[in-house]
Amino acid sequence: MAIQIYPDYDSLSLHVANEIAAQIADKPDSLLCLAAGDTPKLGYRLLADIVHKEQIDCSRCTFVGLDEWLGVPQDNEGSCFYFLNTHLFTPLGIKRSQIHVFDGMTTDPDKDCRTMDQFIRDGNGIDLMLVGVGMNGHIGFNEPGARENVYAHVVQLDETTRRVGQKYFPRETKLNLGITLGLRHLLESRRAIMAASGLKKAGIIKLALQEEISTDIPASLIRKHKNGVTILDEDAASRLTVI
Ligand code: F6R
Repeated sequence: MAIQIYPDYDSLSLHVANEIAAQIADKPDSLLCLAAGDTPKLGYRLLADIVHKEQIDCSRCTFVGLDEWLGVPQDNEGSCFYFLNTHLFTPLGIKRSQIHVFDGMTTDPDKDCRTMDQFIRDGNGIDLMLVGVGMNGHIGFNEPGARENVYAHVVQLDETTRRVGQKYFPRETKLNLGITLGLRHLLESRRAIMAASGLKKAGIIKLALQEEISTDIPASLIRKHKNGVTILDEDAASRLTVI
């Protein structure tokens, strides 16, 4: 797995934008799975600029959701869908028919997981997955201790995720369960990019990249990906000892 280090968040974000734009330009019917969260936010804005400037056709690609908070409706500002819709789908002009996401208000999450797995299978697998890294090393909502060999599933969120996740919500919100693609989806994707930015991620990035590969730090699994890359800004990379 390659590690790429950019001077700052802006240059990291431009790289994210260029990678996604190139993926769609090279394979217009790509199946993409792009994370919500603070890390890719600027990258999505820059992506929209590139797509419009270069007139990249996004009408044939499909997006699958990485994860969602269970019990949180899509019109709640803190939901993953709300984020993606605001920062990615709407700016790119993506139609609802091109999007398959988890519904946080589902009454049968296990069934939704099987439907998601089938959707990805029918789409011939994920072409590009872009994931962030949680403060506890999670990927999507694959929390520390997650199983490696599992597709979409329901998760008991850990304490760190429930606490840190409040940053997305306008008011204190009860977060208990999540629904997520599995690490198996990550490892089976054709390309995977894991991105992290900022000093606050430096500690977990060191553990993920320079300690043993273990589901105790799910982000370390990116190192098993045959076509995986970790992109960092200098702050997130600042505790790596060997580069
Ligand atoms: C979001 C997601 C999470 C975030 C991670 C980092 O869809 O799956 O795993 O990628 O928690 O979040 P930020 O980027 O806000 O630091």
